[in-house]
Amino acid sequence: MLFCSQSGIGIVAVDLSLLPDAVEVGAVCLDGSPPAYNFDKGSDTGVNHWLIHLEGGGWCESKISCAQRSMTYLGSSLKMNKSYDFPGILSASSKINPYFYNWNRVLLRYCDGGSFSGNIDAPVLVQLPGESKARTIYFRGERIWKALVEHLLLLGMNLAEKALLAGTSAGALASLIHCDSFREFVPIQSEVKCLSDAGFFIDVVDVGGERSFRRYFGNVVDTQNITDALPDTCTQRYGASQCFFPAQLIRQIKSPFFILNAAYDSWQWNNVLVPSSADPKGEWSLCKKNLMSCSTKQVAILQEFRKQLVEALGPSTLPIGASSFLLSCVYHNIAFDTRLWATPSSQVGNKTAAVAVGEWYFEANNKSTLDCPYPCNTNCKGVLL
Ligand SMILES: *[C@@H]1O[C@H](CO)[C@@H](O)[C@H](O)[C@H]1NC(C)=O
Ligand SMILES: *[C@@H]1O[C@H](CO)[C@@H](O)[C@H](O)[C@H]1NC(C)=O
Ligand SMILES: *[C@@H]1O[C@H](CO)[C@@H](O)[C@H](O)[C@H]1NC(C)=O
Ligand SMILES: *[C@@H]1O[C@H](CO)[C@@H](O)[C@H](O)[C@H]1NC(C)=O
Repeated sequence: MLFCSQSGIGIVAVDLSLLPDAVEVGAVCLDGSPPAYNFDKGSDTGVNHWLIHLEGGGWCESKISCAQRSMTYLGSSLKMNKSYDFPGILSASSKINPYFYNWNRVLLRYCDGGSFSGNIDAPVLVQLPGESKARTIYFRGERIWKALVEHLLLLGMNLAEKALLAGTSAGALASLIHCDSFREFVPIQSEVKCLSDAGFFIDVVDVGGERSFRRYFGNVVDTQNITDALPDTCTQRYGASQCFFPAQLIRQIKSPFFILNAAYDSWQWNNVLVPSSADPKGEWSLCKKNLMSCSTKQVAILQEFRKQLVEALGPSTLPIGASSFLLSCVYHNIAFDTRLWATPSSQVGNKTAAVAVGEWYFEANNKSTLDCPYPCNTNCKGVLL
């Protein structure tokens, strides 16, 4: 661990660790390399508290796109940086991260392209255009998840008194999928909760009139054989690809969980609501760069998107112990972004995202926070995305 004091903020670069033994049980990244994590040990009151954070980074939805991904840090531990500057909720600074700064903080690295949930037993051969030889790739996200958690139990998580399984984006989806299975790994007397940061992907019709994201999610589930990681009660009734959507998943989760999301999630705006396929003439280009240049009609479409998020997270759908924080800004990651997590830029009323999550975790305050629609939250101003 290394402390630098650039611009006065305590940035902590945490070393990358590999899990070579996991290869024996077939827990490997897309390219066959060992899974990896970054771990910063807890201290003082946090010594038996564990924050496990699942890294995000989209998905791959076909053998070809997964083979291409296998050549990047999102598909191979050989391509990952040797250290990681822990942001926001992973920070060791009590100023940046008031509630979890002295916990054991672990970033599980995302290198399977299927939200740590796929499993295809046999290696898969993929012929990429322009290459003379087929590549061998592996779909083993579920095994990576198990191998990493079992390894953390050996590093002291077997003594956890409190634990939080968190994740951002594709990793947030994984934190919901694995929330109850994580509960089973850690000691029975420990308190376990789960946090989804920017992972509440919704099943909407895009601006071109298609359910393109539903199709995309279906392809991810099929390509990576994700069905078995999803709750049976859901898959039998609605089919696997529907159950990869959090709106369905959260109905089955028994442990307390928290949904943190921007109501105008920038990733979903670009990829779910207005994917480039749905905007061939680029009518949304200016609006995507700056909300203030959106037409009245475009703002109405965004408000409808927010409305669907609000409905999916309404008090009648959230079970006891669950909570949500829906911020009316155009952001993606919130907990995983030092500029937002505990700063006025994630504030609703006078509560930052960090405080809302902290009070829910430590004080069992399950009151959800719903920000008023754009443009009423002036705290968003000044933050790019
Ligand atoms: C890897 O490190 C370089 C140099 O510090 C940085 O610019 C880059 O963003 C890092 N990549 C990832 C994926 O973290
Ligand atoms: C799909 O996953 C399940 C559960 O891990 C496994 O039993 C089955 O063999 C997998 N299918 C393939 C084709 O590998
Ligand atoms: C919040 O917690 C209280 C006390 O535990 C419980 O009675 C109430 O039903 C919970 N509300 C929600 C929306 O979860
Ligand atoms: C701000 O926080 C205080 C407690 O610190 C609370 O009493 C007050 O109602 C809050 N104001 C708003 C607008 O949320």
